[in-house]
Amino acid sequence: MGTKAQNHVKFAHWIPNVSGGLVVSKIPQRTDWGLQYNVKLAKIAEEVGFEYALTQIRFMGSYGAEYQHDSLIFSTALLANTESINIVTGILPGMFHPGVIAKHGATADQIFNGRWAINVVSGWYRREYDALGVQWLEHDERYVRSQEFIEILRGAWSDDDFSYRGKYWQIDGYTLKPKPLVIPGRPMPEIFQGGNSLAAQRMAAAVSDWYFMNGNSLEGFKEQINNVSKMAAARGRKVKFIANAFVIARDTEAEAKSELERIIRSADTEAVEKFRVAVKEAGQSTKEGKGMWAKSTSRDLVQYNDGFKTNLIGTPEQIASQIHELGRIGVDAILCGFLHFHEETRFFGERVIPLVREMEDAASVKRSANG
Ligand SMILES: Cc1cc2nc3c(=O)[nH]c(=O)nc-3n(C[C@H](O)[C@H](O)[C@H](O)COP(=O)(O)O)c2cc1C
Repeated sequence: MGTKAQNHVKFAHWIPNVSGGLVVSKIPQRTDWGLQYNVKLAKIAEEVGFEYALTQIRFMGSYGAEYQHDSLIFSTALLANTESINIVTGILPGMFHPGVIAKHGATADQIFNGRWAINVVSGWYRREYDALGVQWLEHDERYVRSQEFIEILRGAWSDDDFSYRGKYWQIDGYTLKPKPLVIPGRPMPEIFQGGNSLAAQRMAAAVSDWYFMNGNSLEGFKEQINNVSKMAAARGRKVKFIANAFVIARDTEAEAKSELERIIRSADTEAVEKFRVAVKEAGQSTKEGKGMWAKSTSRDLVQYNDGFKTNLIGTPEQIASQIHELGRIGVDAILCGFLHFHEETRFFGERVIPLVREMEDAASVKRSANG
Protein backbone atom coordinates (compact mmCIF):
# COMPACT_ATOMS: atom_id res chain seq x y z
CA MET A 1 0.00 0.00 0.00
CA GLY A 2 1.56 3.32 -1.00
CA THR A 3 1.17 6.59 0.88
CA LYS A 4 -2.34 7.93 0.46
CA ALA A 5 -3.31 11.53 -0.19
CA GLN A 6 -5.60 12.91 2.49
CA ASN A 7 -8.73 12.91 0.37
CA HIS A 8 -8.51 9.19 -0.44
CA VAL A 9 -11.50 7.28 0.87
CA LYS A 10 -10.37 4.38 3.07
CA PHE A 11 -11.87 0.90 3.07
CA ALA A 12 -12.95 -1.36 5.93
CA HIS A 13 -14.69 -4.73 5.90
CA TRP A 14 -17.05 -6.40 8.31
CA ILE A 15 -15.52 -9.44 9.98
CA PRO A 16 -18.13 -12.21 9.84
CA ASN A 17 -17.41 -13.54 13.35
CA VAL A 18 -21.10 -14.40 13.73
CA SER A 19 -22.85 -17.08 11.70
CA GLY A 20 -25.19 -16.34 8.81
CA GLY A 21 -23.12 -13.70 7.00
CA LEU A 22 -24.26 -10.10 6.71
CA VAL A 23 -27.76 -10.73 5.36
CA VAL A 24 -30.80 -12.23 7.09
CA SER A 25 -31.46 -14.42 4.09
CA LYS A 26 -31.51 -18.11 3.31
CA ILE A 27 -29.62 -17.54 0.04
CA PRO A 28 -26.61 -19.90 -0.10
CA GLN A 29 -23.47 -18.06 1.07
CA ARG A 30 -19.87 -19.16 0.87
CA THR A 31 -19.09 -16.90 3.88
CA ASP A 32 -18.04 -18.67 7.07
CA TRP A 33 -17.78 -17.31 10.63
CA GLY A 34 -14.74 -19.39 11.72
CA LEU A 35 -11.19 -18.18 12.36
CA GLN A 36 -9.53 -19.89 9.41
CA TYR A 37 -11.94 -18.29 6.94
CA ASN A 38 -11.53 -14.89 8.59
CA VAL A 39 -7.72 -15.00 8.65
CA LYS A 40 -7.75 -15.67 4.92
CA LEU A 41 -10.27 -12.87 4.42
CA ALA A 42 -8.20 -10.32 6.37
CA LYS A 43 -5.09 -11.32 4.38
CA ILE A 44 -6.94 -10.82 1.09
CA ALA A 45 -8.27 -7.48 2.38
CA GLU A 46 -4.88 -6.13 3.37
CA GLU A 47 -3.38 -7.30 0.08
CA VAL A 48 -5.97 -5.41 -2.00
CA GLY A 49 -5.95 -2.14 -0.04
CA PHE A 50 -8.34 -2.38 2.93
CA GLU A 51 -7.06 -0.59 6.04
CA TYR A 52 -9.62 -1.61 8.69
CA ALA A 53 -11.77 -4.59 9.61
CA LEU A 54 -14.58 -4.62 12.20
CA THR A 55 -15.66 -7.42 14.54
CA GLN A 56 -19.19 -7.70 15.91
CA ILE A 57 -19.97 -8.17 19.59
CA ARG A 58 -22.88 -10.45 20.39
CA PHE A 59 -23.34 -12.68 23.41
CA MET A 60 -26.16 -14.87 22.24
CA GLY A 61 -28.13 -15.89 19.17
CA SER A 62 -30.03 -13.19 17.38
CA TYR A 63 -31.72 -12.74 14.06
CA GLY A 64 -29.88 -14.77 11.44
CA ALA A 65 -26.80 -15.07 13.71
CA GLU A 66 -27.14 -18.22 15.77
CA TYR A 67 -23.43 -18.59 16.68
CA GLN A 68 -20.96 -15.85 17.60
CA HIS A 69 -17.26 -15.79 18.43
CA ASP A 70 -16.15 -13.33 21.11
CA SER A 71 -15.05 -10.07 19.49
CA LEU A 72 -12.00 -9.32 21.65
CA ILE A 73 -10.46 -12.80 21.48
CA PHE A 74 -11.27 -13.05 17.79
CA SER A 75 -9.69 -9.65 17.08
CA THR A 76 -6.41 -10.59 18.73
CA ALA A 77 -6.33 -13.91 16.84
CA LEU A 78 -6.72 -11.95 13.59
CA LEU A 79 -4.03 -9.43 14.59
CA ALA A 80 -1.64 -12.31 15.28
CA ASN A 81 -2.16 -13.61 11.76
CA THR A 82 -2.01 -10.37 9.74
CA GLU A 83 0.50 -7.61 9.12
CA SER A 84 -0.98 -4.26 8.24
CA ILE A 85 -4.75 -4.21 8.70
CA ASN A 86 -6.21 -2.42 11.76
CA ILE A 87 -8.73 -4.52 13.66
CA VAL A 88 -11.61 -2.63 15.25
CA THR A 89 -13.04 -4.55 18.22
CA GLY A 90 -16.74 -4.18 19.01
CA ILE A 91 -17.28 -3.60 22.76
CA LEU A 92 -20.55 -3.10 24.70
CA PRO A 93 -19.87 -0.82 27.70
CA GLY A 94 -22.66 -2.31 29.82
CA MET A 95 -20.85 -5.65 29.86
CA PHE A 96 -17.31 -4.50 30.74
CA HIS A 97 -15.32 -2.29 33.08
CA PRO A 98 -13.53 0.44 31.06
CA GLY A 99 -10.32 0.08 33.06
CA VAL A 100 -10.16 -3.59 32.09
CA ILE A 101 -10.78 -2.85 28.40
CA ALA A 102 -8.15 -0.06 28.58
CA LYS A 103 -5.70 -2.73 29.80
CA HIS A 104 -6.67 -5.30 27.12
CA GLY A 105 -6.43 -2.60 24.44
CA ALA A 106 -3.04 -1.32 25.60
CA THR A 107 -1.55 -4.81 25.53
CA ALA A 108 -3.06 -5.65 22.13
CA ASP A 109 -1.81 -2.34 20.76
CA GLN A 110 1.73 -2.94 22.07
CA ILE A 111 1.94 -6.49 20.79
CA PHE A 112 0.44 -5.77 17.37
CA ASN A 113 2.19 -2.50 16.49
CA GLY A 114 -0.65 -0.05 17.00
CA ARG A 115 -3.22 -1.97 14.94
CA TRP A 116 -5.85 -2.38 17.67
CA ALA A 117 -8.89 -0.06 17.66
CA ILE A 118 -12.27 -0.11 19.42
CA ASN A 119 -15.89 0.31 18.35
CA VAL A 120 -17.95 1.40 21.35
CA VAL A 121 -21.48 0.19 20.65
CA SER A 122 -24.19 1.29 23.03
CA GLY A 123 -26.47 -1.68 22.30
CA TRP A 124 -29.99 -2.45 21.07
CA TYR A 125 -30.33 -6.16 21.91
CA ARG A 126 -32.08 -6.16 25.25
CA ARG A 127 -32.41 -9.96 25.48
CA GLU A 128 -28.65 -10.32 26.05
CA TYR A 129 -28.72 -7.93 28.99
CA ASP A 130 -31.81 -9.55 30.50
CA ALA A 131 -30.33 -13.04 30.07
CA LEU A 132 -27.15 -12.03 31.90
CA GLY A 133 -28.94 -9.98 34.55
CA VAL A 134 -27.13 -6.82 33.47
CA GLN A 135 -29.14 -3.62 33.88
CA TRP A 136 -30.70 -2.41 30.61
CA LEU A 137 -30.65 1.39 30.47
CA GLU A 138 -33.06 3.51 28.48
CA HIS A 139 -31.75 4.81 25.16
CA ASP A 140 -30.08 8.16 25.90
CA GLU A 141 -28.76 6.94 29.24
CA ARG A 142 -26.83 4.22 27.38
CA TYR A 143 -24.89 7.04 25.69
CA VAL A 144 -24.19 8.72 29.06
CA ARG A 145 -22.59 5.45 30.14
CA SER A 146 -20.73 5.01 26.83
CA GLN A 147 -19.32 8.53 27.01
CA GLU A 148 -17.96 7.85 30.51
CA PHE A 149 -16.51 4.60 29.19
CA ILE A 150 -14.63 6.45 26.43
CA GLU A 151 -13.44 9.22 28.76
CA ILE A 152 -11.99 6.58 31.08
CA LEU A 153 -10.27 4.80 28.16
CA ARG A 154 -8.69 8.08 27.07
CA GLY A 155 -7.68 9.01 30.64
CA ALA A 156 -6.15 5.62 31.41
CA TRP A 157 -4.30 5.60 28.09
CA SER A 158 -2.76 9.02 28.59
CA ASP A 159 -2.38 9.84 32.32
CA ASP A 160 -0.59 8.24 35.23
CA ASP A 161 -2.42 8.18 38.54
CA PHE A 162 -5.71 8.72 36.67
CA SER A 163 -8.87 9.45 38.66
CA TYR A 164 -12.46 9.87 37.43
CA ARG A 165 -15.76 10.48 39.18
CA GLY A 166 -18.61 9.35 36.96
CA LYS A 167 -22.17 8.18 37.42
CA TYR A 168 -21.27 4.63 36.36
CA TRP A 169 -17.61 4.24 37.28
CA GLN A 170 -15.19 5.66 39.86
CA ILE A 171 -11.48 5.47 39.13
CA ASP A 172 -8.97 6.29 41.83
CA GLY A 173 -5.30 6.71 40.94
CA TYR A 174 -5.13 4.12 38.13
CA THR A 175 -1.76 3.86 36.40
CA LEU A 176 -1.69 1.70 33.31
CA LYS A 177 1.71 0.35 32.22
CA PRO A 178 2.40 -0.16 29.44
CA LYS A 179 0.18 2.41 27.82
CA PRO A 180 -0.71 1.92 24.13
CA LEU A 181 1.89 2.94 21.54
CA VAL A 182 2.16 6.60 20.60
CA ILE A 183 2.37 6.80 16.82
CA PRO A 184 2.74 10.08 14.88
CA GLY A 185 -0.79 11.28 14.09
CA ARG A 186 -2.28 8.61 16.37
CA PRO A 187 -1.74 9.39 20.03
CA MET A 188 -3.78 6.39 21.21
CA PRO A 189 -5.91 3.56 19.71
CA GLU A 190 -8.65 4.96 17.50
CA ILE A 191 -12.15 5.08 19.00
CA PHE A 192 -15.07 4.32 16.69
CA GLN A 193 -18.70 4.36 17.71
CA GLY A 194 -21.94 2.94 16.34
CA GLY A 195 -25.31 4.71 16.62
CA ASN A 196 -27.05 7.41 14.60
CA SER A 197 -29.50 8.99 17.08
CA LEU A 198 -29.06 12.52 18.40
CA ALA A 199 -27.54 11.12 21.62
CA ALA A 200 -25.06 9.13 19.50
CA GLN A 201 -24.21 12.22 17.46
CA ARG A 202 -23.59 14.29 20.59
CA MET A 203 -21.29 11.62 21.97
CA ALA A 204 -19.33 11.39 18.72
CA ALA A 205 -18.83 15.16 18.72
CA ALA A 206 -17.60 15.05 22.30
CA VAL A 207 -15.31 12.01 22.47
CA SER A 208 -15.10 9.72 19.41
CA ASP A 209 -12.61 9.68 16.54
CA TRP A 210 -14.90 7.94 14.05
CA TYR A 211 -18.69 7.95 13.61
CA PHE A 212 -20.19 4.88 11.90
CA MET A 213 -23.27 5.51 9.77
CA ASN A 214 -25.74 2.82 8.82
CA GLY A 215 -26.47 2.55 5.09
CA ASN A 216 -28.24 5.66 3.78
CA SER A 217 -28.85 7.99 0.84
CA LEU A 218 -26.36 10.77 0.03
CA GLU A 219 -28.81 13.24 1.63
CA GLY A 220 -29.12 11.12 4.76
CA PHE A 221 -25.33 10.92 5.10
CA LYS A 222 -24.90 14.66 4.48
CA GLU A 223 -27.33 15.56 7.26
CA GLN A 224 -25.42 13.47 9.83
CA ILE A 225 -22.01 14.69 8.67
CA ASN A 226 -23.14 18.31 8.97
CA ASN A 227 -24.73 17.85 12.39
CA VAL A 228 -21.85 15.97 13.95
CA SER A 229 -19.17 18.18 12.36
CA LYS A 230 -20.85 21.34 13.63
CA MET A 231 -21.17 20.01 17.17
CA ALA A 232 -17.57 18.76 17.09
CA ALA A 233 -16.24 22.09 15.76
CA ALA A 234 -17.93 23.89 18.67
CA ARG A 235 -15.67 21.79 20.92
CA GLY A 236 -12.60 22.34 18.73
CA ARG A 237 -12.75 18.72 17.53
CA LYS A 238 -12.97 16.91 14.19
CA VAL A 239 -14.73 13.57 13.71
CA LYS A 240 -14.21 11.16 10.79
CA PHE A 241 -17.13 9.44 9.09
CA ILE A 242 -17.45 5.85 7.97
CA ALA A 243 -20.49 4.66 5.99
CA ASN A 244 -21.83 1.12 5.88
CA ALA A 245 -22.60 -0.49 2.51
CA PHE A 246 -23.52 -3.97 1.36
CA VAL A 247 -21.56 -4.20 -1.87
CA ILE A 248 -22.77 -6.21 -4.86
CA ALA A 249 -20.24 -5.62 -7.63
CA ARG A 250 -20.77 -7.60 -10.82
CA ASP A 251 -19.65 -7.23 -14.44
CA THR A 252 -23.07 -5.97 -15.44
CA GLU A 253 -25.67 -3.89 -13.62
CA ALA A 254 -28.34 -6.49 -14.42
CA GLU A 255 -26.35 -9.24 -12.68
CA ALA A 256 -25.83 -7.07 -9.59
CA LYS A 257 -29.50 -6.10 -9.38
CA SER A 258 -30.72 -9.63 -9.83
CA GLU A 259 -28.35 -10.84 -7.07
CA LEU A 260 -29.94 -8.24 -4.76
CA GLU A 261 -33.43 -9.46 -5.67
CA ARG A 262 -32.36 -13.07 -5.03
CA ILE A 263 -31.09 -12.10 -1.56
CA ILE A 264 -34.34 -10.32 -0.76
CA ARG A 265 -36.58 -13.05 -2.23
CA SER A 266 -34.79 -15.60 -0.01
CA ALA A 267 -35.06 -13.38 3.12
CA ASP A 268 -35.69 -15.17 6.39
CA THR A 269 -38.89 -13.18 6.86
CA GLU A 270 -39.61 -14.44 10.36
CA ALA A 271 -36.11 -13.42 11.57
CA VAL A 272 -36.36 -10.05 9.80
CA GLU A 273 -39.71 -9.36 11.46
CA LYS A 274 -38.37 -10.22 14.94
CA PHE A 275 -35.34 -8.01 14.29
CA ARG A 276 -37.64 -5.16 13.21
CA VAL A 277 -39.44 -5.40 16.56
CA ALA A 278 -36.22 -5.70 18.62
CA VAL A 279 -34.56 -2.64 17.07
CA LYS A 280 -37.40 -0.44 18.31
CA GLU A 281 -35.06 -0.10 21.33
CA ALA A 282 -32.74 1.96 19.10
CA GLY A 283 -33.45 5.41 17.57
CA GLN A 284 -37.21 4.85 17.52
CA SER A 285 -37.29 4.83 21.32
CA THR A 286 -35.90 8.38 21.59
CA LYS A 287 -38.10 11.45 21.86
CA GLU A 288 -36.92 12.64 18.41
CA GLY A 289 -37.71 9.17 17.02
CA LYS A 290 -34.51 9.35 14.96
CA GLY A 291 -31.53 7.05 14.69
CA MET A 292 -30.57 3.69 13.25
CA TRP A 293 -33.40 1.66 11.75
CA ALA A 294 -35.95 4.42 12.58
CA LYS A 295 -37.15 4.49 8.97
CA SER A 296 -36.02 1.07 7.72
CA THR A 297 -38.41 -1.08 5.71
CA SER A 298 -38.43 -4.88 5.98
CA ARG A 299 -36.57 -4.96 2.66
CA ASP A 300 -33.83 -2.68 4.07
CA LEU A 301 -33.50 -4.84 7.19
CA VAL A 302 -32.53 -7.95 5.22
CA GLN A 303 -29.07 -6.36 5.54
CA TYR A 304 -29.10 -5.62 9.24
CA ASN A 305 -27.20 -2.32 8.97
CA ASP A 306 -29.30 -0.91 6.08
CA GLY A 307 -26.42 -1.57 3.70
CA PHE A 308 -28.48 -1.78 0.50
CA LYS A 309 -29.49 1.88 0.89
CA THR A 310 -25.95 3.14 0.17
CA ASN A 311 -26.38 1.74 -3.33
CA LEU A 312 -22.98 0.20 -3.96
CA ILE A 313 -24.77 -2.26 -6.22
CA GLY A 314 -23.84 -2.38 -9.92
CA THR A 315 -20.74 -2.45 -12.10
CA PRO A 316 -17.29 -1.53 -10.77
CA GLU A 317 -17.61 1.83 -12.59
CA GLN A 318 -21.01 2.64 -11.06
CA ILE A 319 -19.84 1.68 -7.59
CA ALA A 320 -16.60 3.66 -7.89
CA SER A 321 -18.54 6.80 -8.93
CA GLN A 322 -20.88 6.45 -5.98
CA ILE A 323 -17.90 6.03 -3.60
CA HIS A 324 -16.22 9.05 -5.15
CA GLU A 325 -19.43 11.03 -4.55
CA LEU A 326 -19.52 9.82 -0.94
CA GLY A 327 -15.93 11.03 -0.53
CA ARG A 328 -16.91 14.44 -1.90
CA ILE A 329 -19.65 14.90 0.70
CA GLY A 330 -17.26 14.11 3.55
CA VAL A 331 -17.31 10.33 4.00
CA ASP A 332 -13.77 9.28 5.03
CA ALA A 333 -14.20 5.52 4.81
CA ILE A 334 -16.59 2.82 3.60
CA LEU A 335 -17.43 -0.24 5.69
CA CYS A 336 -18.11 -3.06 3.23
CA GLY A 337 -20.17 -6.20 3.63
CA PHE A 338 -20.39 -8.87 0.92
CA LEU A 339 -22.36 -12.02 0.19
CA HIS A 340 -19.35 -14.25 -0.51
CA PHE A 341 -16.60 -12.40 1.37
CA HIS A 342 -13.38 -13.99 0.01
CA GLU A 343 -14.02 -13.69 -3.68
CA GLU A 344 -15.98 -10.45 -3.52
CA THR A 345 -13.40 -8.65 -1.33
CA ARG A 346 -10.77 -9.52 -3.92
CA PHE A 347 -12.99 -8.45 -6.83
CA PHE A 348 -13.75 -5.16 -5.06
CA GLY A 349 -10.07 -4.53 -4.31
CA GLU A 350 -8.91 -5.35 -7.81
CA ARG A 351 -11.74 -3.81 -9.84
CA VAL A 352 -13.35 -1.03 -7.78
CA ILE A 353 -10.63 0.51 -5.56
CA PRO A 354 -8.29 1.34 -8.51
CA LEU A 355 -11.16 3.17 -10.26
CA VAL A 356 -11.89 5.16 -7.09
CA ARG A 357 -8.21 6.14 -6.90
CA GLU A 358 -8.23 7.24 -10.56
CA MET A 359 -11.30 9.42 -9.96
CA GLU A 360 -9.78 10.93 -6.81
CA ASP A 361 -6.48 11.65 -8.56
CA ALA A 362 -8.25 13.22 -11.57
CA ALA A 363 -10.30 15.42 -9.22
CA SER A 364 -7.22 16.52 -7.33
CA VAL A 365 -5.36 17.37 -10.60
CA LYS A 366 -8.43 19.41 -11.65
CA ARG A 367 -8.49 21.18 -8.29
CA SER A 368 -4.78 22.13 -8.54
CA ALA A 369 -5.26 23.32 -12.15
CA ASN A 370 -8.09 25.57 -10.96
CA GLY A 371 -5.68 27.05 -8.43
C1 LIG B 1 -21.09 -0.21 12.25
C2 LIG B 1 -21.89 -0.59 13.44
C3 LIG B 1 -21.55 -1.72 14.14
C4 LIG B 1 -22.30 -2.14 15.23
N1 LIG B 1 -21.94 -3.27 15.87
C5 LIG B 1 -22.68 -3.71 16.92
C6 LIG B 1 -22.31 -4.88 17.61
O1 LIG B 1 -21.33 -5.53 17.26
N2 LIG B 1 -23.10 -5.28 18.64
C7 LIG B 1 -24.21 -4.60 19.04
O2 LIG B 1 -24.89 -5.02 19.97
N3 LIG B 1 -24.57 -3.45 18.41
C8 LIG B 1 -23.84 -3.00 17.38
N4 LIG B 1 -24.20 -1.84 16.73
C9 LIG B 1 -25.45 -1.15 17.14
C10 LIG B 1 -25.24 -0.04 18.18
O3 LIG B 1 -24.87 -0.62 19.39
C11 LIG B 1 -26.53 0.76 18.46
O4 LIG B 1 -27.43 -0.01 19.16
C12 LIG B 1 -27.20 1.14 17.21
O5 LIG B 1 -26.25 1.80 16.46
C13 LIG B 1 -28.44 2.04 17.43
O6 LIG B 1 -28.06 3.29 17.86
P1 LIG B 1 -29.00 4.57 17.80
O7 LIG B 1 -30.25 4.20 18.49
O8 LIG B 1 -28.21 5.60 18.57
O9 LIG B 1 -29.17 4.96 16.38
C14 LIG B 1 -23.43 -1.38 15.64
C15 LIG B 1 -23.76 -0.23 14.95
C16 LIG B 1 -23.01 0.19 13.86
C17 LIG B 1 -23.40 1.42 13.13
